[in-house]
Order: sequence, then C-alpha cells, then structure tokens
Amino acid sequence: MEPLKTSPSSPMSPSSPQGSAAEADLVVEGGRLVTPEGVFEGGVVIRDGRIAALVAPGDPLPAGPRLDARGRYVLPGLIDSHVHFRTPGLEHKETWERGSRAALAGGVTTVMDMPNTRPPSLDTASLRAKAALIAGRSYVDHRFHMGADPDHPEVLADLDPAVATSAKAFMAGHHTAPVVFREAHQLEAAFAAAARGGVRLVLHAEDQHVFDLLDSRSGDPESYGAYEPHRPRSGAIVAVAKVVHLVRTHGTKVHILHVSSAEETDLLVAAAAEGLPISFEVTGHHLSFTDHDTARRGPRTRLSPAIRAPRDRERLWRAVLDGEASTIGSDHAPHTVEEKNRPPAEAPPGLPGVQELAISVWTGLLARGVEPDAAASHLARLMGTGPADLFDLVGKGRLAVGADADLALLDPAARWQLSAGHVQSLCGWSAYEGWMFTGRFTTVVRGGRVAWDLARGTMGEPLGRWLPGPALPAAALPGAQPPAMPSRELEGAVR
Ligand code: DOR
Ligand code: ZN
Repeated sequence: MEPLKTSPSSPMSPSSPQGSAAEADLVVEGGRLVTPEGVFEGGVVIRDGRIAALVAPGDPLPAGPRLDARGRYVLPGLIDSHVHFRTPGLEHKETWERGSRAALAGGVTTVMDMPNTRPPSLDTASLRAKAALIAGRSYVDHRFHMGADPDHPEVLADLDPAVATSAKAFMAGHHTAPVVFREAHQLEAAFAAAARGGVRLVLHAEDQHVFDLLDSRSGDPESYGAYEPHRPRSGAIVAVAKVVHLVRTHGTKVHILHVSSAEETDLLVAAAAEGLPISFEVTGHHLSFTDHDTARRGPRTRLSPAIRAPRDRERLWRAVLDGEASTIGSDHAPHTVEEKNRPPAEAPPGLPGVQELAISVWTGLLARGVEPDAAASHLARLMGTGPADLFDLVGKGRLAVGADADLALLDPAARWQLSAGHVQSLCGWSAYEGWMFTGRFTTVVRGGRVAWDLARGTMGEPLGRWLPGPALPAAALPGAQPPAMPSRELEGAVR
C-alpha cells in the first residue's frame, strides 16, 4: 500500500466532531478509496444508509461495526445503466432476484432496466406496475428506462420525471425487440417530443431499412461466421448518422447504446466535439470479444449489435481510455441455453453480463498496461459518476459525504477462472466461462448494509429500492422503501 496521497481533489475533509464522535452503523477501514480523479487511503463512516464521513488515515474513527478493507480498493457501488432483467413476462430467461444477485456479485448496486419486456413498458403506468412487481424482490436499487412508443411519441413531451427521465428507442428489431421505429416521421416526432420533455433518448442505433435491404438479397445466416456480415456495421453507421442529424435539428439529449464499430465511435466523438448533447456507451462484450469468437464459439457471442473486428475492439478501448465513452454497460440480456442453441436464424441475440462487466473491464485495463490506481479511477467514472450524472441518479456513483452508502470492495490482484458454477443469472451460463480474470469483488455494501460477501453470497433481505427521479422523494413512490439499518443477522460478516 502506498502512503496517503493528498491533492486538492481528495474527497477527504477534516472529520467533524459529528462525523467521528457518534457511533457509526458501519466503518469501512484501511482501504483505498476510489474517485475518478484519484485514489486515496482512508475510512468510510456510514450512518442511516449514507456516507457520514470520509476520514483520512490517522484521524479518529467512531465506534461501530468494522469492515476491514485492507488490500482492497473501495469503489462506489457500481451502476450498470443497461440491463434486461426480463420482468414482466420473460421470467423464464431471468428473474429480478437472480439478476440482482448477479449484479451484486459484479460490484453493481444500481441498475437501469430496459423496457423490452412482455408487455413492453411504454408508459408511466406500466413502469409503476413494474416497480410494484419488483418491490421486495430486488437486491439492488433500480431505475427504469421507459420504452419510446413509435405510435405515441407525444408521450415523451410530458413524461413525469419522478418515474423516468430517459426513454429507449429501438431503430432496428430482433427476437426480443419487437417495438421498432421503422418510419422516419415516427423517429422525428420522438426526437421532437423528447426534446420538449427534457427526456434523454437512449438508442439502439442500427437501421432496420439497411438490414431489410440486405435481407432481401441474402436471407438468413446459416452459420455464426455469417452472422456479423448479416448484421454489418453499415446498419449502425447509417443509424448514427441519422441520429446526429436529428439531434442537430431538435437539440434532443441522446445516449447511444452498445457502440460496436470504429466508424460509429469516430462519428459520435466528432458530434460531441461540435457541442451536440450526444454521449455513448460501450459494452463489456464489445471490449472483450471479436467476430472470431462468434465464428468459432457460436451463439453465446451472437449479439445485437454484432461483435465486430479486432480493429473495432481496439477503437472502443481507446474510447474508454481517452474518456470519450461516458458509460460502460453490460446489456445483460440472458436467454436460456435451449433458446441459444437454436439454429443461427432463430437463436436470440444477447448474453448475461452484469456480473462480468466490471471485472472483465478491470482485467482488460490491466492487460493493456494501465496501472491499477488509474484502472480503478476509470471504473469509478464509467460505472460511477458517468451514468449517475447522465441519468440523474442522485446520491449514486460517488464516494462523497451524504451519498448513499453503496460500496464495492475489489481485491485487485485475485486471479480466478470463471466457470458456470459462478453464474448467478437464472440462465446459468456465461460467455466468459474459462476466462482467467484478474481482480474480484469480495464485499458489496448497499444502503449501508453488507449485501454481498464473496464467501457467503447474498446477504440479508432483497431491500433494493426503486429510485425516484430528481423531482420526488423515494418514500412517495409505490414500491419504494427507505434505506434500512444494518440488522443483527448481518453483523457476523462485519468484522
Ligand atoms: O443482443 C441484444 N439482446 N441486443 C438488444 O438490443 C436486446 C437484447 C435482448 O433483449 O435480448
Ligand atoms: Zn440492451
């Protein structure tokens, strides 16, 4: 461990008498606290589900249960702003319980869930109903992206921000994405309405017309080697160009999901440099695999958008390292083994990934020669402040006094091989089976409680909350629960 580094951007403030004297609910001591700006040794004092103080080494810590973080990075509980937890209607692929356990095992304490369920969530009433279904079943906090409805784009103009501040639009469809913006006038109307309502559009930016045109000549792929050429980069590039044009016209805020190619990345970086309100996400799987994996190993890395060439993967890594990408997301999209083993044309795209996202990126960062402190800061931005700021997740994604006490403790050097037995998702498989990972989440705290312990698995009750939008306190939402105090049953895990 290095000595304490002090700099003007250190999150530590002199501990106030209130910060150190009164008993704490939990004290995390001896770890290395991670912010996007740097890493600092220190302790975290937790009271009432929030961070009450960040204390420099040597300064007094209050009495209370201890969590030993020596040898660990203490990251803010991570945010995955792109999961498909399949409630309602597709619970044979994933349940909210299992998906949220997978999240905890991957250091994730907040997820943003997608609307392509059965039925899809295309209005605030269906989001409220979904929150009620999930209440008491989630191990992580959650917010929803509403679905943008091509037949009712006007809904976006007066979306209640307490329920959702973002809406997902699919510009191309597939097995689990039947609601598609096919007509130019629908997309135009959605961009205009979202701009009026201050809603951020999150976009699956591939162009259905490009794919229809190609399909009219070549039909379905017969092998996984033929999958990427069947859904090529041209579909994504055309869609991104359309989006840039619409943003220029309407001023809509957009976040492009799962960018897959070098060309899209270059276009988006140029558009953002022009001052347009455009940001983008890179997924763990587009950073981890190439089309060679899909050709060799088949359906597990059959994704929409497709996994592309090694040069695309390297461009996406540069977007991560240079700060061009605002978020990394898992696009956790489980399907059953039976579904994935269907012939290529019928196998649905998607893989589970919320458990593997942070650790695969951590492994990739170190493999690229990034120093551990810098790698930790990348994660704190891409799965912390990045998504928190983009999606108004107040109190999430940063180690700061007053923030929610969500923490992910990372053993940076643990070497381990992932097997199916590690998989928490209901689907029971991972595209990363056989991978050697560097680093492992050993303890995860959500709302001030130990929610995950590597040796013991999920801890305590599924107390994850539906997170209100910026306009409404949590308690006012149906299905929302206040942060809870540590219970006696958990104290065994807290040394
Ligand atoms: O591969 C994908 N799977 N891409 C998507 O856009 C949706 C997802 C799913 O829901 O299965
Ligand atoms: Zn998705």
